[in-house]
Amino acid sequence: MSEKELRVTKIENGTVIDHIPAGRALDVIRILGITGKENYTVAILMNVESKKLGKKDLIKIENRVLEPREAQLISLVAPDATLNVISNFEVKEKYKLEPPETIEGLIRCPNELCITNKQDEPILPKLKVVKGSKIVLECIYCGAILTSEEITRFIL
Ligand code: CTP
Ligand code: ZN
Repeated sequence: MSEKELRVTKIENGTVIDHIPAGRALDVIRILGITGKENYTVAILMNVESKKLGKKDLIKIENRVLEPREAQLISLVAPDATLNVISNFEVKEKYKLEPPETIEGLIRCPNELCITNKQDEPILPKLKVVKGSKIVLECIYCGAILTSEEITRFIL
């Protein structure tokens, strides 16, 4: 570890989301609904040196475990992120996030006229995950496109 490196203490219990692409940490924070008014400690590191990614973001959350729904949403903005479950200061579980093929009921279609946005006859939104250098979502009903940058605005 170089002298210049920003050091953040290890956590006792909670979750470390590592290898977030640089610039996406705040999207992850939005997905998790963190406002800063919670009673747990959060460390957000941005533009940290990384051997694998050049630069990366990283988030440490004390005393919080992520739900599968949250992990799925994070995989859309940070497809290469690693989820570390910390217990008693040790990494007890480590998951590499993998974007799903489709995402159902978690994100709404951006097209207001889409059948999934009709109030009277609710149809669960279903978007296809198109994997490229950045993830794009495509509504399976109307074909509307949601870019990776827009995703957090359409979370249900
Ligand atoms: N970490 C933490 N508190 C702990 C244990 C680990 O904050 N009690 C953090 C580490 O600082 C690191 C991440 O969790 O950012 C993953 O820890 P570890 O698996 O020990 O690090 P690496 O081997 O570098 O992870 P990887 O192989 O996934 O890059
Ligand atoms: Zn649609």
